[in-house]
Amino acid sequence: SRPKFVAGNWKMYTTRAGAVDLAAAVAKGLPAGGKTRVAVCPPFPWLTAVADALKGTPVAVGAQNCHFEKEGAFTGETAPGMILDAGCQYVIIGHSERRHGFGETDGLLNKKTKAALAAGLSVIFCVGELLAEREASQTEKVLETQLTHGLADLSAAQLEKVVVAYEPVWAIGTGKVATTEQAQAAHAFIRQKIAGQFGEKAAAGLLIQYGGSVKPDNAAALLHQPDVDGALVGGASLKADTFLAIVAAG
Ligand code: 13P
Repeated sequence: SRPKFVAGNWKMYTTRAGAVDLAAAVAKGLPAGGKTRVAVCPPFPWLTAVADALKGTPVAVGAQNCHFEKEGAFTGETAPGMILDAGCQYVIIGHSERRHGFGETDGLLNKKTKAALAAGLSVIFCVGELLAEREASQTEKVLETQLTHGLADLSAAQLEKVVVAYEPVWAIGTGKVATTEQAQAAHAFIRQKIAGQFGEKAAAGLLIQYGGSVKPDNAAALLHQPDVDGALVGGASLKADTFLAIVAAG
């Protein structure tokens, strides 16, 4: 059976000192021998400080974005190899705030995913529909398109280093969490789609996180759905006690 994986996406929040304190508090508060995998994804400037603070703990570190080239004249961008060098194991790719706030397309996200995997990072690849798309019964079509193009040309072996995060856009930062039925249905669809794209074995092993207004009081019900393998947590990951309560719910 699949392990649970809970990651905190700190977005563009925290100070340097606050980030290091939060990371340390998360590591300190984890139950000994807990089986749930845990990662935190701080803003770029704090990656090294947080990774250093978490060295020797079970808490992994991820970045929230990357460029698709190894290096070059790309002012303001960050290469996957730099993220690895900073002490990270993960990178979030295709978050809805990147897709919809910064115009990142499926084709671009595919390039980023391939580059991140080539550099040795694991990828948390985000998908999810807008409210209008759900209301127009387009959810499955949107997820299918995002996965087909975003994960194009990957091998089944490469997919082992990909986690998919299902984040319905209408549930992000709104307090409007998906129902357990909505989450389970979307996750089952994603797994079935991955089976068609990469084979049954890859699909059975794929970790699929749910994201969007996950809080301590709704986490257990979501995390106990058969195809929900974890959570990608925004707001509630900015406090150690709420994040740890979500981890404990796994
Ligand atoms: P919230 O948990 O704040 O809704 O954010 C979810 C998210 O976007 C995680 O990537």
